[in-house]
Amino acid sequence: MANLARARANGRTKGVGEILLEAEHLAKYYGTDAKNEQQRVLVLDDISIQVKSGEFVAILGPSGSGKSTLLRILGGLIRASGGSVRYRGEEVTSPNTNLALIFQTFALFPWLTVLENVELGLEAQTNLTRTQKTKRALAAIDTIGLDGFEDAYPKELSGGMRQRVGFARALVVQPELLFMDEPFSALDVLTAENLRNELMRLWREGRIPTKAILLITHSIEEAVFMADRIVVMGHDPGRIRAVLNGIPLAERGTKTPAAEALIDLVYTIITQPDEDAADLIAGRVQSGVFGEATPERAKTAAKGYQTLPHVKIGVINGLAERVLRAGGREDLSVLGRELQLEIDDLLPIVEAIEMLGFGEATEGDLVLSDEGKRLAAGDDQADKTLFRQQALTHIALIRQITEDLANAEDHEIDSDEIVEQLEEHFSPDEAERQFGTAIDWARYAELFAYDDESGLLYLEDLVAGE
Ligand SMILES: Nc1ncnc2c1ncn2[C@@H]1O[C@H](COP(=O)(O)OP(=O)(O)OP(=O)(O)O)[C@@H](O)[C@H]1O
Ligand SMILES: [Mg+2]
Repeated sequence: MANLARARANGRTKGVGEILLEAEHLAKYYGTDAKNEQQRVLVLDDISIQVKSGEFVAILGPSGSGKSTLLRILGGLIRASGGSVRYRGEEVTSPNTNLALIFQTFALFPWLTVLENVELGLEAQTNLTRTQKTKRALAAIDTIGLDGFEDAYPKELSGGMRQRVGFARALVVQPELLFMDEPFSALDVLTAENLRNELMRLWREGRIPTKAILLITHSIEEAVFMADRIVVMGHDPGRIRAVLNGIPLAERGTKTPAAEALIDLVYTIITQPDEDAADLIAGRVQSGVFGEATPERAKTAAKGYQTLPHVKIGVINGLAERVLRAGGREDLSVLGRELQLEIDDLLPIVEAIEMLGFGEATEGDLVLSDEGKRLAAGDDQADKTLFRQQALTHIALIRQITEDLANAEDHEIDSDEIVEQLEEHFSPDEAERQFGTAIDWARYAELFAYDDESGLLYLEDLVAGE
């Protein structure tokens, strides 16, 4: 309804709701040139998505879930390894000319004024005269709130203003589709909020000359604030976990119970990457209110190998302490907001807490286990002992290394052996990171140590001497 109203205000009653962009069963592999089949990495798995006229769609997911890759495929900038993308029914095989893109930051030309930078967006439009181009650029500059800065050079502008120039350069094209890849994430909090509000006002008033917007973000609040539909992605491999209906356009930006409930639900889904999103949705709201999940895809998520989140012990401890102060249970969206943690920062901490048996994410809350409460309340030495116990019980890699060390001659192992084993499951970089995190945790737990120079792992005296 709200879309219709907006489109009407925009004088575009015709064609509202028609499918503009449609992707079916997209798959994307990177490293397809690799000799070894196993080196191919599946980054997008069976993605189907539609964008209709009048819609604002947000794609939300943790870092590495393939959001940017998906955006590039949808825009025809790169080819998928499988599946199809159609724009108005036509197969997309080259960059879509009906599309403008907005990125985290823009490469503005320092030697060109704001006006000239915006006019550049129209370079390809050979049917326009110089004067028409200037007129349109001035209008776009006005719309986006840069009036008076036409003759300024980029270096004279703040980060937020420069990002506005980028927006103007995209909008001046009057594209049918606007794609934005984390357009606010390089800005400070207040500037981002200001620009977000401005953009939503323009969209609501039908002053953005595009038929549909696709936004990529890893901010849950941003997705809920802006979108008609939220596509929640998961990773390993990148896949769609749920498609949720947004709150009505008129209510966006206010803390209504519906907005709070939706934020909560998205936190719940994202912080439980191994759960079937359909269960999480069904368990919380009357089905149909917030949308659909894709249960068949959730099953392919099973990893079979434990992936350590790269989190420092102090951070785990800190979050546990904060939750204990709230009585051992706290709303994840409250934690995110209060600690100013984006989901990409919060998620690994929650994963670490869960993996170590210190707590559980459930119904959008983080709930500490008895061990988690003891950790949060304990002194340093008690924490170490507890951490050691939990790491040995729950972290396969740490347990394995500890056992290998106990059995090895001289209680030493060459770290290359371990990293090689990890490379059977992870990319070389990720294998190194997994190793690094295991070392970090084990050191804290005083289980084993690592000598950088020799590359040897060895048992701590404390343990070896037992
Ligand atoms: N050109 C490339 N070659 C190989 N792997 C790549 C390439 N580009 C991206 N990847 C990998 O594909 C996965 C998805 O990357 P992508 O950039 O699409 O994720 P994203 O969701 O946009 O992440 P972020 O939130 O960090 O921007 C990641 O694991 C990344 O390392
Ligand atoms: Mg990205």
